[in-house]
Amino acid sequence: MKLFRCQICGDPYLGSEAPSFCPFCGAPQKYMVPAEAYVDRNNIPDMSPLSRENLETALALEVANAAFYFCASNCAPGAVDQAMFKALAKAESEHASLMCKLLQVPKPEIKPDDKACRKDPRANFKEAHGRETRAVAFYRQAAAAAVEDRVKEVFTALSEIESYHIALSEAHG
Ligand SMILES: [Fe+2]
Ligand SMILES: [Fe+2]
Repeated sequence: MKLFRCQICGDPYLGSEAPSFCPFCGAPQKYMVPAEAYVDRNNIPDMSPLSRENLETALALEVANAAFYFCASNCAPGAVDQAMFKALAKAESEHASLMCKLLQVPKPEIKPDDKACRKDPRANFKEAHGRETRAVAFYRQAAAAAVEDRVKEVFTALSEIESYHIALSEAHG
């Protein structure tokens, strides 16, 4: 086994090969590096006000989406839908953690959001599709606007990851 790290979320992974997607944040394989090559770039001195504002927007978005998915998982009658929503909830929660590292703030508690959740899995996949579509649009413009390389890298990776989530919501909705 070898030790890899995700250059987006920083989490470690043990395996014979780099995984096709980070098991924690969902970043594609190109972001998985041997642990020795990992560089922590989350401390950004003199961050621009625009990046700070966009990271704060991203944190709120990720917390809200994680809270929605945790409830959707709890409400789903079938084991496969439960697992799918749980996987999405954990990825979004990981994204919230990353925003907190970049903003250097403590991670807020994430509770299942039963107001956003629709109880029926099909309706929740439809809701998920709307949420992920809005997330991708936001991350694309935030990546384009970012002046710091690390902020640009994170928002670009998140736009890619949430695009995969759109595909999942389409396949399951
Ligand atoms: Fe990751
Ligand atoms: Fe996310």
